[in-house]
Amino acid sequence: MPVIKTKNDLIESWLSIARDKKTNSEQFRAAMENIGLLLFSEAINDAKGLTAKQHIKTPLKKTQVRYLDQKHIYIIPVLRAGLSMLPGIRKLVPEAKVAHVGLYRNENTLEAHWYLDKLPKKITKRSTFFVLEPMIATAGTITQVIQRIVILGSVKIFIISGLISESAKKKLEQKFPMISFHVADIDPILNQNGYIVPGLGDAGDRAFNM
Ligand code: URA
Repeated sequence: MPVIKTKNDLIESWLSIARDKKTNSEQFRAAMENIGLLLFSEAINDAKGLTAKQHIKTPLKKTQVRYLDQKHIYIIPVLRAGLSMLPGIRKLVPEAKVAHVGLYRNENTLEAHWYLDKLPKKITKRSTFFVLEPMIATAGTITQVIQRIVILGSVKIFIISGLISESAKKKLEQKFPMISFHVADIDPILNQNGYIVPGLGDAGDRAFNM
């Protein structure tokens, strides 16, 4: 599946707030939280096999309803910036598992290196992964995260991202045609320091007021 750029006006509006350099850290976190939960609610519609039927009684009648079977859902925030997208999603799926991963970019080579991997050791056919990575610049970090989840045995992987560069989009669509990337916007330029332009700056620094 391709990179899917949302058409949701609410997401676009929150992204505009996040892009603005006058936006302070608290407002920036609110913007990323809202972008995360709105993109997550779009992505979850593409995930198959997550609902279960159940009979309940309303005050008036017995009826059949559907629930999300949250125990199959893994939310994967990529540290640090991915944490900013987590709070709203946790309210939507409080029983989902949260598996943190951390990679840092070597500032000279721009290569990603692991420092934390809390991915599960065992998964089932129904395990479904939602990776929170606000900025996909070179595609190096997200490629490594996807590869580790694929090695676990899953292709039910959905990427939730604020901004992706045009060059990362091309690479990822070619490398992972079975994975969908739900993004707020696609930016044209990746500068020599690995920043997305116009972008929104360093998402981790802005979220954590550094
Ligand atoms: N990570 C960020 O936080 N911002 C960019 O522009 C690129 C990677």
